[in-house]
Amino acid sequence: MSFYLVTGGAGFIGSHLTEELARRGHRVRVVDSLITGKRRNLDHVAGVEFLEGDLADPAIAERAVGGVEYVLHQAAIPSVPRSVNDPVTSHRANVDASLNILVAARDVGVRRLVYAGSSSVYGDTPTLPKREDMPPNPLSPYALQKLVAEQYCQMFTRLYGFETVTIRYFNVFGPRQDPGSPYSGVISLFATALIEGRQPVIYGDGEQTRDFTYVSNVVDGVLLACEAPKAAGEAVNVATGGRISLNGLLDTMNGIVGTNLKAVHQPARAGDVRDSQADITKARTVLGYSPRVGLEEGLRNTLDWCRAGRA
Ligand code: UD1
Repeated sequence: MSFYLVTGGAGFIGSHLTEELARRGHRVRVVDSLITGKRRNLDHVAGVEFLEGDLADPAIAERAVGGVEYVLHQAAIPSVPRSVNDPVTSHRANVDASLNILVAARDVGVRRLVYAGSSSVYGDTPTLPKREDMPPNPLSPYALQKLVAEQYCQMFTRLYGFETVTIRYFNVFGPRQDPGSPYSGVISLFATALIEGRQPVIYGDGEQTRDFTYVSNVVDGVLLACEAPKAAGEAVNVATGGRISLNGLLDTMNGIVGTNLKAVHQPARAGDVRDSQADITKARTVLGYSPRVGLEEGLRNTLDWCRAGRA
């Protein structure tokens, strides 16, 4: 049994990590500001220690890391458009808080910190799929913030010998992703629209593509990164290696729900990336990762969860 801290553990991805760690019999502490996370996301997980607080306050970061062996740093304001509208608030959450947790974790001798990086750091690089050795090209404050914190992680490994691994997430989806804001992930918004019989919104022509990744695949990748001997100091894509357009996604989801709702098109979003698809060769070799749940199975699970929430 090991002792893990999950920052942002009451959020979407953080709560799935917390659940799996508890299931494996580990001790888990969660720190969450509850700005976007929700206490109820952890109601079904027994034995989790919960600390409410904002990691942008260094004193909270110090309290959070006491006694911990591994830190899974998920806390963030994970939205491109929100960062475009309010870069200062999202910088505080995505950069200041990350630096605070790195310093605190280093100082108490945490074994390894695994950081929730983002595919958005690639921007519109012309080559697909995106490999970790391509030069980053952030197109939004969010992408830049994710890159800065990732580079802080790598620098902490080089400069202080503190082991960090960045997992670059690609459009993660699944149960507990909150559809309650215009900044929510597109699959959560499409799912609620179709179930409620409303037309979903597509920004732009809908031919932009994404490597949508079911959340359990990300949990696999992050937990492998805690132990993988050659991962320290690395940034690694965790995704499926495929891609689908938003129009294709909507067709697939309409097929599963049994609806035929057409999208309402609105202008493309500022800071939006056109195409995103991961090369997962490095994840396979460095982490021993392979995606276990495909898009369609993941969509079915997600839609079942959304329907149950409305039953
Ligand atoms: C980006 C990042 C991702 C990050 C995520 C956090 C990229 C490639 N990925 O995702 O790493 O974790 O932000 O939010 O930059 N859309 C619609 N209708 C909607 C909502 C969205 O058409 O109702 C479109 C968006 O314009 C976009 C796509 O769907 O083209 C996906 O949007 P979203 O789910 O917000 O995530 P990204 O911005 O791709």
